[in-house]
Amino acid sequence: MTAAWAADEEPQTQNIAHNDDVVRARQQVRTLAQRCRLSLVDQTKFITAASELARNTLVYGGGGELRSGLVEREGRRGVAAVFEDSGPGIPDIDLAMTDGWTSGGGLGLGLSGARRLVDDFVLDTEVGRGTTVTIVKWAR
Ligand SMILES: Nc1ncnc2c1ncn2[C@@H]1O[C@H](COP(=O)(O)OP(=O)(O)O)[C@@H](O)[C@H]1O
Ligand SMILES: [Mg+2]
Repeated sequence: MTAAWAADEEPQTQNIAHNDDVVRARQQVRTLAQRCRLSLVDQTKFITAASELARNTLVYGGGGELRSGLVEREGRRGVAAVFEDSGPGIPDIDLAMTDGWTSGGGLGLGLSGARRLVDDFVLDTEVGRGTTVTIVKWAR
């Protein structure tokens, strides 16, 4: 993590195994982004990034888990989402992060777009082990 979970509450965990779970993940991060008092524009950016990552977890990771919650760093509040799967991993990170590159039938803008939409973006992946993507958006 690039920040600590807020001391006063536990992060929430959600399974991502079906399409419905992607919708639930989106709702969960929306609620958090509102509670964090992100601006409307920043809420939308964070929710959009999280939706893309949730879909990747489902489609490419074969399902996985979302942990999300409020975070703190140096007195600042933010909202974080950690997407983790035990899927095939990403063999070439630079390629996967390239605008328009997809190994499936997508637009290839999920990872690269998500990185642009948030403040912190950490991609940790290993072939044969899985993929974890952490995103944070800080309140202004
Ligand atoms: N969780 C993941 N596990 C394995 N591969 C992934 C994962 N997320 C992304 N990828 C790889 O990165 C590529 C780019 O992802 P993305 O930018 O979201 O585009 P798209 O979803 O349109 O393919 C995917 O096509 C896939 O090969
Ligand atoms: Mg995608």
